[in-house]
Amino acid sequence: MTDGDVDVLFDRLVSSSDGAILVVTVATDDERDGCLVGFHSQCSIEPRRYALWLSAANRTTELAGRASHVGVHLLAAGDHELAELFGGLTGDDVDKLASVAWRSGPGGVPLLDGCARRMVLARTELREVGGDHLLFVGEPAAAWAPAGSFTPLRLSDASDIHAGHPPGDRRSPGSPRAG
Ligand SMILES: Cc1cc2nc3c(=O)[nH]c(=O)nc-3n(C[C@H](O)[C@H](O)[C@H](O)COP(=O)(O)O)c2cc1C
Repeated sequence: MTDGDVDVLFDRLVSSSDGAILVVTVATDDERDGCLVGFHSQCSIEPRRYALWLSAANRTTELAGRASHVGVHLLAAGDHELAELFGGLTGDDVDKLASVAWRSGPGGVPLLDGCARRMVLARTELREVGGDHLLFVGEPAAAWAPAGSFTPLRLSDASDIHAGHPPGDRRSPGSPRAG
């Protein structure tokens, strides 16, 4: 039993968990991009697998369907500027990677110099799951995890950022252009 509109309660419930946010990067032979991601989780222990949910509206999602790997970067509490760059702008308009230092990693993925905690996932799955985000699943191909304490940037820290591509901007209904 719930008292009140279930969507409002759902939103309140989910936001109360205040998850950490990531930057996901991707490159094909001639294109590169990256976006901010709040929907993510480890989804298998053995074998290790990590899931991301990528918006059907995003250019990054489109490229991920043509790439073998993606880069996953944990943002630290002080990384609001990076969150704004990757979450507030779209690669349809700007080359986000032109304004940050990065190097090419396994599978050609852009690895952001400013994010020490990161991994590269080799894609095992990218498919429609009935919503406005596609399910991406990957296996770890490389990981960097410096010792020491870490405070992540959280969804609540990014509440002032307006997504460069709201989910309603879906690029091609019924067709992810990604897979
Ligand atoms: C706080 C926040 C969380 C977001 N979470 C996701 C997410 O989980 N998955 C996703 O695909 N996009 C997410 N976005 C949206 C993209 O990061 C944003 O639309 C970006 O501009 C897309 O860039 P692109 O078109 O270059 O790929 C989020 C944006 C914000 C501000």
